Amino acid sequence: MVNSSRRSGRAATVSWEAYRESIGDRSPLFAEIARTWAPKRALYAGSYVDLSPATAIPAVTFLDMDRRAAKYFADGALVASELERHVPPALAPEVDFVHGDYTAPLACQEGSFDLLISLFAGPVWDHCQRYLAPGGLLLANASHGDASIAGLDARLQLVGVVQRDADQWSLADTSLDEYLIPKRPELADADLIRADGRGLQYTRPAWAYLFRLVV
Ligand SMILES: C[S@@+](CC[C@H](N)C(=O)[O-])C[C@H]1O[C@@H](n2cnc3c(N)ncnc32)[C@H](O)[C@@H]1O
Repeated sequence: MVNSSRRSGRAATVSWEAYRESIGDRSPLFAEIARTWAPKRALYAGSYVDLSPATAIPAVTFLDMDRRAAKYFADGALVASELERHVPPALAPEVDFVHGDYTAPLACQEGSFDLLISLFAGPVWDHCQRYLAPGGLLLANASHGDASIAGLDARLQLVGVVQRDADQWSLADTSLDEYLIPKRPELADADLIRADGRGLQYTRPAWAYLFRLVV
């Protein structure tokens, strides 16, 4: 089922195929997260048209301010046909789209998601943490600093690291104490990272990090 907060009724004009090719297929990553942690409801802030979480997670709310993303998600037939390539029709996931700015209050219930996704989209953790349930997961990367800010948040525990080698994805939970160690410890300050808008350089980097909200 595809729900959109702003339905245009017109065919999506976004070149979603080119975009999808540029980012690669992340479906195996979300399949692995689903296999290990079984999240039921995810919020993907700054999703653009990356549909991959919906191939593995039963209900996903995508959120983006870009009107091309709004057009894409308004085309329910297109989204459904894409999902059919990965998910049997009987297991059709629930897909919602919110066309908006994640820095503003969202029409989403606080504490109602068990996975928050933050990939290449800015300080999602700062603005959307209220929507994550206690014990929920944050998947973040360091490109815009979000994983670095999360790594300094005492309420978050690192529970996995994601590595990517071309089309191969892995989610590991071993040697986690070797990750998130900054090359320059003096820069490991959340406000400095926010001001800089970039993540820290780590002695052992990962493509992304999976955290659990422990308090
Ligand atoms: C570089 S793209 C990344 C898209 C996708 N997460 C990925 O990994 O390929 C960043 C996306 O975040 C969205 N974005 C950035 N700031 C946002 C905000 N404050 N509210 C909603 N969307 C935002 C942009 O519109 C853009 O579509």
